[in-house]
Amino acid sequence: MAKLGVNVDHIATIRQARGGSEPDPIAAAAIAELAGADGITVHLREDRRHIQDRDVLLLRKTIQTRLNLEMAPTDEMVAVALKVLPDAVTLVPEKREELTTEGGLDVSLHRLLIKKQVDLLRQGGITVSLFVDPDIEQIKMSHRVGADFIEIHTGTYCDAKKEEMRKTELSKIETAIRAGRKLGLGINAGHGLNYWNVRDVVALGGVEEYNIGHSIISRAVLVGLDQAVREMAALVRGG
Ligand code: PXP
Repeated sequence: MAKLGVNVDHIATIRQARGGSEPDPIAAAAIAELAGADGITVHLREDRRHIQDRDVLLLRKTIQTRLNLEMAPTDEMVAVALKVLPDAVTLVPEKREELTTEGGLDVSLHRLLIKKQVDLLRQGGITVSLFVDPDIEQIKMSHRVGADFIEIHTGTYCDAKKEEMRKTELSKIETAIRAGRKLGLGINAGHGLNYWNVRDVVALGGVEEYNIGHSIISRAVLVGLDQAVREMAALVRGG
């Protein structure tokens, strides 16, 4: 049965809109855990546009499940991770001007840098996942640089407007899951998943954890975080 990691970045986005102290992602993480989340995910961006260093430090102390820190493969971020010691780090590409992460890491192009960061994080006892497109070359290279997990970028599947394209993208995800498992990698998936499009990915099987943020927090605004997390947890568990 797959697990659900709840990304609470958008709680921090609302807080930063007024530069105050509410709503607090630490409180949101506690509610998400009580509602059945298997883990909490936050992305500490280089520009600190939503999650702050204080949030990561406090989450490390307060959450009962697992902390997954998404971050760029930079020396600054690796130093933060080695200080905070999250259970897992997911390395993601990062551009300052983007609204959200726009695609997977190019592990082939940046293999030397990524291998160095993967080695440092793993030596620190942290499980390392690489956020990659459902692309066989990237998956093979993720294995080669020593990652424990890949997180398959589901954004193109989620954005597909036409049924034919949706099917093509879903089949790429299926092939990526199989290829990653064959290499012995753990498989996570995320980006753009919502209460409707997650079902067909869950039906493929083989994914250990889904990292989902925007759709859960959007639903939480209307129905409450507890209910929003419970409903998504049921879906990723195949309900
Ligand atoms: N996984 C990764 C690597 C991400 O960068 C994000 C967005 O921060 C997510 C999952 C969650 O995506 P969404 O907010 O679209 O559910």
